[in-house]
Amino acid sequence: MEVVVLPTPEDCGRVVADVVTAAVEGAPGEVIIGLATGSSPLLAYRELVARHAAGLRFDAVTAVLLDEYVGLPAGHPESYREVIRRELTDALGMDPARVHGPDGSAADPLQAAGDYEALVTGLRPVAVQVLGIGANGHVGFNEPGSSLASRTRVKTLTEQTRRDNARFFGGDVDAVPRHVLTQGLGTISAAEHLVLVATGEAKAAAVAGAAEGPVTTSCPGSVLQLHPHVTLVVDEAAAGRLQRADYARYVLTHKLVGQGW
Ligand code: GLP
Repeated sequence: MEVVVLPTPEDCGRVVADVVTAAVEGAPGEVIIGLATGSSPLLAYRELVARHAAGLRFDAVTAVLLDEYVGLPAGHPESYREVIRRELTDALGMDPARVHGPDGSAADPLQAAGDYEALVTGLRPVAVQVLGIGANGHVGFNEPGSSLASRTRVKTLTEQTRRDNARFFGGDVDAVPRHVLTQGLGTISAAEHLVLVATGEAKAAAVAGAAEGPVTTSCPGSVLQLHPHVTLVVDEAAAGRLQRADYARYVLTHKLVGQGW
């Protein structure tokens, strides 16, 4: 795992955008990118939109989303499919038919989970999967206790996650769905490159757990330690509890030319 500690959230956004740009530009044909919602990747997405305006093309890109709320009607402004369309894929000129997410409005969410797992597995490989992390260490919507080998399924949100996400629902915790569909940690781990971005002090404990703690279902983000190609991009505040932050800074200032991320 490469830990990249940078001064500001904007710097983090640029590095995440660099990783995605390299995948998009480097592919000879079709490329599949995994997208996360939440506030953490937004600066990266803004950067990608700016690069698209400057000529970066996404015509050959297919996007797969990590997760979705169960029970929000299709088109609900806070459904993740709608958020990603609004924040990113429309501005990148991507055909909505190339943006896939779990169907949280399906009459049978269990079936929808299986269908989405089959779709993501059939599309593989995901070249880059963008990730955020919850304050309790969740990745996607894999709450603590999630199997590190899990596949796409229905999960029940913790009350902490519902409270954290209430800000997107006018501060009303009761408006936050209790159930979600999420790619499992095993599904996510099949991507070729995982790039997780976290900023701010509130994420410092989760970041330390994911990067340096024991590999445990109690911190779903710790599954990153089992993956061969992970870039963990954090600002100084989110790096605040990392014991090896100095080494990460040292590595960054001594990269070989062309070493990449
Ligand atoms: C949400 C999403 C995750 C996201 C995380 C952190 O619940 N399901 O994919 O990474 O929580 O969100 P934020 O980046 O807004 O802090």
